Amino acid sequence: MAYSEVVNVSGFVGNFKVTVKKKTRYVNEKECTACGECVKVCPITKPDAYQTGFSTRKAIYIPFPQAVPASYLINMDDCLGINPIACGKCADVCEKKCIDFDQQDKFIDIEVGAIIVATGMDVYDPSEIDEYGYTRFPNVITSMEFERLICAGGPTEGHFIRPSDRQRPKRIGFIQCVGSRSAKRGNPYCSNICCMNTVKDCLLLKDHYPDTDCTVFYMDIRAFGKSFEDFYMRSKEEGVKYLRGLPGEIEEDPATRNLRVVVENTNGGGVDFHEFDMIVLSTGVIPQKDSAVIRKLLTLSKTSDGFLMEAHPRLKPVDAPTRGVFLAGCAESPKDIKDSVAQAGAAASHANILLNAGHISIEAVTSVIDDSMCNGCELCIDVCPYHAIQSNGKKSPPTIITAACAGCGNCGAACPTGSITMRHFTDMQIEAQIDAILEEDGDQKVLGFACNWCSYAGGDFAGISRLQYPTDARLIRTMCSARVDEEFIWRGFHKGAAMVLVSGCHYADCHYISANRQTVQRVNRVWDKMERLGIRPERLQLEWISAAEGQKFAKVMRDIEQMRKRVTKEEIDETVRILNEERDKAAAKKAAKTDKKEQAAA
Ligand code: FES
Repeated sequence: MAYSEVVNVSGFVGNFKVTVKKKTRYVNEKECTACGECVKVCPITKPDAYQTGFSTRKAIYIPFPQAVPASYLINMDDCLGINPIACGKCADVCEKKCIDFDQQDKFIDIEVGAIIVATGMDVYDPSEIDEYGYTRFPNVITSMEFERLICAGGPTEGHFIRPSDRQRPKRIGFIQCVGSRSAKRGNPYCSNICCMNTVKDCLLLKDHYPDTDCTVFYMDIRAFGKSFEDFYMRSKEEGVKYLRGLPGEIEEDPATRNLRVVVENTNGGGVDFHEFDMIVLSTGVIPQKDSAVIRKLLTLSKTSDGFLMEAHPRLKPVDAPTRGVFLAGCAESPKDIKDSVAQAGAAASHANILLNAGHISIEAVTSVIDDSMCNGCELCIDVCPYHAIQSNGKKSPPTIITAACAGCGNCGAACPTGSITMRHFTDMQIEAQIDAILEEDGDQKVLGFACNWCSYAGGDFAGISRLQYPTDARLIRTMCSARVDEEFIWRGFHKGAAMVLVSGCHYADCHYISANRQTVQRVNRVWDKMERLGIRPERLQLEWISAAEGQKFAKVMRDIEQMRKRVTKEEIDETVRILNEERDKAAAKKAAKTDKKEQAAA
């Protein structure tokens, strides 16, 4: 559906309802033969965004030559107006009578089982790097503008000229990493495609104009794909010069409009001066400007770079955390054509597997809510990384969409009334384990909570690797560290545990998107309260241990054993006394509240 926009998505895997806005073209696309008569009479001229502003278009135009359908559309922001029609020349000359100023946007509802997000990327705008003078010097262009200038279908029909005097530039400098790999100037990440794009641009220039002198300023050339190194070497053989160092500033000679750069040559040493007819800024890749809208529509997450986050960076690279949604191309991260095609194929296959099965398998461990206990606070909705809990309005129990729930248990841990628990790994089961572990010699034990995917597996790995660690640790397995309710920790101390350990996957590796961020917040809250109550916060430890870190697991256990030895019986007794006091105070407060409510009701 070309020239259309998704405006709403509801439902869940297998049952998405999507509303698409089909924007009006004001031209009947079925009748239009693209004869172009309308364009000739249109009096409006605007910069052509497709040609990066190097040429112009009319208010009625085809956005780019390969557009499908090849029919014209009217940009109403540019058109002289339809109400009243101040011009209408295009309508007068159209023999087929395709122009219809009364056309309206259409809204189309469709039902789909899976969604693939392939919304692409944007290009970094180097205007903010004033030292490079992109907004001041006409002969400083971006790699995207270079593309249009060298393209046979571009504004100059492939004749490479410099914008200031339309002469062919003979000395061209390329500056790499503009807007990439710098937290101060642009973005800290590598844009992945710019190095090889510049190598390709240089070879194109050498092919079209063998006498062109190309110099590339770089930090390091990342030619990591198949045959990329050969391609890079070929450009060197063709005479492209590579200089390691990025210019600090570009200056222009106002008379000739030539450009001068001073650069520290970090390979050969010393400071080099260069003069060019034209400079191409190899600009980086940034997330689509409207990717926040897509994220909101599909309840997706983003990485710190702003690109859409996959369900797992290694195990589920094309699945979005929202079940039934898949990612392809630069929407997920900067990548070249080959990787985009591969990812698109994978996303399409995953969607097909899902749809062809006709049914989906869900996790056995999912959340359940007891409506009678819920006070409608909706904290669970805020913390669910899968947006699997739907609001039914404040003060009403929300609905858990089991098909969308992944079973991390984050909602159960966040619920202040205890109305959410899990199928399996229930509160009762975990509490029973805590009690059983600490029934005897609690002061000699370390009570540990370990997430299923990383820390518990790390413990297993330590075991099968025959690594020695103290035997006083007792681990309780939870699906995610975010399942560890603050109450479980307090129960452990109340029952006399000397030490409590909460452990999970490393930050970016949580198998439930970012659920373990909540773990940090919960542990921080418990630490604060421990300090307030006069209980040593060191007695609660938080550790990130991956499945491969058997060594780390054993070391953590040895360190905690040392800490446990410093916890005296008196200290534990005092902790139990403090917590008994706290429990009594809380019970008294609750009773007072109930009395007040009853009195008010009476
Ligand atoms: Fe390990 Fe979330 S799954 S911390």
